[in-house]
Amino acid sequence: MNELLTQLNELLIQNKLLIEIVYFVVALLFILGLKQMSHPKTARKGIIWAGVGMAAAMGITFLYPNMGNFLLISIALVVGGGLAWWSGKRVEMTNMPQMIALYNGMGGGSAAAIGAIALLHHEAHSKALLSLAIAGGLIGSISLSASLVAWAKLDGKMNRVWRFAGQKYLNLLVLLGAIGMGVAMAVLPEPPLALTLGFFAASLAYGAMMAVPIGGADMPVVISLFNACTGLAVAFEGFALQNNAMIIAGTVVGAAGSLLTQLMAKAMNRSLGNVLFSNFGEGGGSGEAVKGSMKEAAPQDAAISLAYAAKAIVIPGYGMAVAQAQHKLWELAQLLENNGVEVKFAIHPVAGRMPGHMNVLLAEAGVPYDKILDLDEINADFASTDAVLVIGANDVVNPVARTDKSSPIYGMPILNADMAKQVLVVKRGKGVGFAGIENHLFYLDNTRMVYGDAQKVIVELINTIKSL
Ligand code: TAP
Repeated sequence: MNELLTQLNELLIQNKLLIEIVYFVVALLFILGLKQMSHPKTARKGIIWAGVGMAAAMGITFLYPNMGNFLLISIALVVGGGLAWWSGKRVEMTNMPQMIALYNGMGGGSAAAIGAIALLHHEAHSKALLSLAIAGGLIGSISLSASLVAWAKLDGKMNRVWRFAGQKYLNLLVLLGAIGMGVAMAVLPEPPLALTLGFFAASLAYGAMMAVPIGGADMPVVISLFNACTGLAVAFEGFALQNNAMIIAGTVVGAAGSLLTQLMAKAMNRSLGNVLFSNFGEGGGSGEAVKGSMKEAAPQDAAISLAYAAKAIVIPGYGMAVAQAQHKLWELAQLLENNGVEVKFAIHPVAGRMPGHMNVLLAEAGVPYDKILDLDEINADFASTDAVLVIGANDVVNPVARTDKSSPIYGMPILNADMAKQVLVVKRGKGVGFAGIENHLFYLDNTRMVYGDAQKVIVELINTIKSL
């Protein structure tokens, strides 16, 4: 008993026990926070919980035995935290994917930096811990440079897609070079500095080289993959530093990122290999020729169809996000409901450009969650619906996904808008969607095209319904 008390006392003196207790609470906060993020109602609380966990994990670092450089750490925290706060407040919803890419890259870069420090103090670590630091350095560096390319593409700063014959082989060669140098570093008793530098240069080069040929529009899926990589790198570095909070946070991010990547690829009916190595949407086959013609309707006519419907379903897509039309859309839905129309919102899993894109925008506008239904929940309702309002959506309602084997979106589950009595499509003109193909829904007899910016058209619909 005495011995136990003495040990406990020693642990407390060195802050070790306190650090372990805090890390345990931090891990709980991360996991419970993530759980809450899975539903829009609790997502905000989940982010706060995880944020408190992160703040506690950073705060406890100051109590580490033999910790120094407090001024430098404080400056880094103030500069990094300040920049994140400032950019987080300013970012537009439509620019969120590139911001996530940038921050994900920073996570990978931080993991790689920890790996670099461990390698510079080579002698202080066992071979096993060094190997983990090297693995984290490799994956973190790849994630950093690939995420920066993803950010540049999503932000429109890099519009070209570089492809050339033998590119995959060259990329593989660079990756094998990086792995080879990593193995040499783990094996050699005193690896030269040039080897360490070569290892990081090759890892960074590979990340950029694998991201450069991927089209900007495929980047959300790829970022999710890099996110999983960053988590993995952080977990490896957590082992190297013997830091439980990093191990748990990294593993959770790695698992969540991998699942999300899989879900996104599945909802687009594409394999990860197809996302990484194909030219999706860049002049790919458009499949069967379209029959019929597009029939235009004035916003006033569309308003009358909606106002006299008994049941209406709204399908928002990327164009709604571009037009920031969610607030006006909810105003229109409320107006219709006051007129006795039953209104529901149908969300496709890959509508927009990032997971949950439409859910976030509708939640921001105040649409109650019980009115927002997923594809599986609502698809059977279309056949008994009088009017469907497609607002800035395109690929997610394209019926060729069901019928045309030559179409790039063949097999993707779609919202059955074409089965409703009448379909009203709001878009600016004849622009194609992400997949770059014609939409057969727009040519059907029961479809009317209402041309214009989503927000402007909705305002016209509201004004007309008010005047009826
Ligand atoms: P899209 O198929 O991209 O179509 C969006 C449509 O919005 C365009 O046809 C465009 O036509 C219209 N539009 C653009 N700006 C507008 C504005 N200001 N007002 C009105 N309309 C406007 O969108 P979707 O149906 O949401 O499908 C999403 C696509 O992105 C899917 O193919 C999906 O696989 C892909 N994707 C999704 C994700 C995630 S996770 N959500 C990730 C990667 C890829 P006009 O130019 O004629 O206006």
